[in-house]
Amino acid sequence: MGKNLYKPHLAELKEIERETLDVKAFKVEIIEDIDFNYLPGQFAMVSVFGRGECPISFSSSNVRDDLVEFSVKRLGKVTVALHELEVGDKIGVRGPYGNGFPIEEWGGKNLVFIGGGIGQVPLRSTIRHVLAQRENFDRIDIFYGAPSTEELVFRDELFQLEDRDDLNVFLSIDEEEEGWSRFVGFVPENVERVQPSGENSIALTCGPPVMIKFVVKNLKELGFENDEIFTSLEMKMKCGIGKCGRCNVGNLYVCKDGPVFSYDQVQESPLNIEEI
Ligand code: FES
Repeated sequence: MGKNLYKPHLAELKEIERETLDVKAFKVEIIEDIDFNYLPGQFAMVSVFGRGECPISFSSSNVRDDLVEFSVKRLGKVTVALHELEVGDKIGVRGPYGNGFPIEEWGGKNLVFIGGGIGQVPLRSTIRHVLAQRENFDRIDIFYGAPSTEELVFRDELFQLEDRDDLNVFLSIDEEEEGWSRFVGFVPENVERVQPSGENSIALTCGPPVMIKFVVKNLKELGFENDEIFTSLEMKMKCGIGKCGRCNVGNLYVCKDGPVFSYDQVQESPLNIEEI
């Protein structure tokens, strides 16, 4: 009998932290004796036994973190069930799946991370990965925004990164709040204000489709080419391995050919960021 591709690895919840009102970080240990290696931008199918499974991007980095981390927004049956679990409970983890960001091709380049809301998850994994090998890259700019301070995920970590002098962090919230002295406005406005150079640079942007649309416009004006802009698309996925057709768009399977796409791939295919 062939290997059951849908059988998850058993994993134990080791730490659970509340990131925001509806986002929790779950640090898990894969219990089975396997090499569980993954790339930033890849995802896993995470299952709560008896409740179902759903695709979740890694927010940790394989090269830096001992535990596998998923930062999960409470949204839908499986994630609601996941939020009810406690340290010591077991879950299933199938994967890793998808392509991930081609970080190894970007040595010597400037990297510009632009995230919004929970879209920061795959970027956070990538930032951790990149900072573990900081010397391989030139300038690093991190833009991140959310509607309010309460909704900024990885907030404390980003505040700590602000203190480093080998990278630049530009945080924003949509509306004024007492005590907030950083930028107030939407993420694309922050990018427009700072104007990161498009020379020898790669931009990675994840967030709400409307944010990505305006960020891409900014980036093009700053000289970024379509193949220098990368995004990770979220889409309803079921099998995660190119079999069920649920994530099929044109001749692409988001689960297998993505979820990371360069903007020229997006433009050449029926993938429409605004509809995803
Ligand atoms: S999720 Fe089944 S083909 Fe992509």
